[in-house]
Amino acid sequence: GHILCVVGARPNFMKIAPVIRAFKEISPAITYRLLHTGQHYDAAMKQSFFDQLGIPEPDIDLGVGSGSHAVQTAEIMKRFEPELDNNPPRAVLVVGDVNSTIACSLVAVKKGIPVIHVEAGLRSGDRSMPEEINRILTDQLSDLLFTTERDAESNLVREGIDRERVHFVGNVMIDSLHHNLDKAIPAAQTLNEIASTPRKLKEYGLLTLHRPSNVDDPKTLRALLQVLSEISADLPLIFPLHPRTENRIKQAGLEQLIASSNISLCPPFNYLQMLGILKDSQLVLTDSGGIQEETTALGIPCITLRESTERPITVTQGTNTIVGTDAEQIRSVFRQTRETGGKAGCIPEYWDGQAAPRIAAKIASWLDQH
Ligand code: UD1
Repeated sequence: GHILCVVGARPNFMKIAPVIRAFKEISPAITYRLLHTGQHYDAAMKQSFFDQLGIPEPDIDLGVGSGSHAVQTAEIMKRFEPELDNNPPRAVLVVGDVNSTIACSLVAVKKGIPVIHVEAGLRSGDRSMPEEINRILTDQLSDLLFTTERDAESNLVREGIDRERVHFVGNVMIDSLHHNLDKAIPAAQTLNEIASTPRKLKEYGLLTLHRPSNVDDPKTLRALLQVLSEISADLPLIFPLHPRTENRIKQAGLEQLIASSNISLCPPFNYLQMLGILKDSQLVLTDSGGIQEETTALGIPCITLRESTERPITVTQGTNTIVGTDAEQIRSVFRQTRETGGKAGCIPEYWDGQAAPRIAAKIASWLDQH
C-alpha cells in the first residue's frame, strides 16, 4: 500500500516538496502517490511552484477550483471519495490548514484510512479564521500528528488528543527554505521586472495581504492601505497581489490610493522570486502564516497585520511582532523597527532543514507497526 499525499493550495506546495523528497531519498520503501485537489489552479499560484520545487506532476488532479467554503469543501470530498475506492492507500497525508486539508481528512477517516497531519497543533485561538476550524478538526481526525514547535503538543493534549500520536519534528517549510535559498532569484532582477518600480531600490519592505479579515471588508482594507501608503513614504513597499486581494482592491476602488503612494503592486511572486525578495528586504509587513516563519528563519523583522498568530514561536523566539490593524500601532512598531533594526531573534529548535527526514523515518516505523 502507498501513502497518498494531498495538496491543494499555494502554502501546501513548499510543505509537501521536502516530504516527497525524503520518501524517495531516506525511506525508499515508502511508496506514495500525489493528489492535487485543484483548489489553487492559476499558473502563478500552482504550476510555477511545482516546477521550482521539483514536485512531480500529481497522479490525480481533482480540478475543483474556487467556490464558497461549503461548496469548495464538499466538491473536494465528492471527488476524493472515488479516488480512495479505486486505489485505497495505507494512509492519507495532509499538510497545513486549508480547505483541502480538512476535506480529504474527513473522507479518509470515515473509510477507516489513517490520516497523517504535517503541521499539527497550531492554534491562533481565533475561531473566526477558516483555517483555525480546519486545524482543530483535522487534528481530531488524525492518527499521526507532526508538529513544528513544542507548544503545539500542549494545544493538542488540551483538546484530548493522545500524546502518543504527536511527534515534534520541526518545520518542513524551513526544509524548503534551506534547500532552495542558494537558487533564489536575486531581488534586483525581480524588482527590474516590475515595471512600476523605480529601477534602483536600495531599501524596500515586502507587503503581503490576503486574509479575508483584512481584505474582504472595504473599510478595513482602505484603512490598512492608508497607513501602509503613509509608511511607504519612508520605505518603498513591494506588494505582490494574491488573486483575492487583487479582486478586493478593484471592487473597493482603491487603485488610486495605491497609485499615489510608494507601494508597487505586482503579480504573485513564484517561490524563488519570493525567497530573493525576502532575503534582501529591510522588513516585512504581512498577514501570511508561512511568511511569519520564513522571516524568523532568515532573521528579517516581520510585522504581522493580524490580532493573533497560530505560530507563537515566531514572536517568543523569532523576529515577529503582532500588531493587528490599528493604524497607530502599525506606525509605531514600523518606526521602532526602522530605528532599531527590529528584534534580533534566534532560530527555533528543529527548524534546521531536517524535518521531512524525521517525518519519513517516523512514518516508516509506524507502517512497520501497523
Ligand atoms: C487559501 C487558504 C489560506 C491560504 C491561502 C494561500 C483556505 C480556507 N484558505 O485561501 O489558508 O493562506 O489559500 O493562498 O483554504 N483564486 C484564483 N486563482 C487561484 C486560486 C484562487 O484566482 O489559483 C481566487 C479565486 O477568485 C478564489 C479566491 O482566489 O475565489 C480565493 O481562493 P481560495 O482557495 O478559496 O482561498 P484563499 O483566499 O486563496
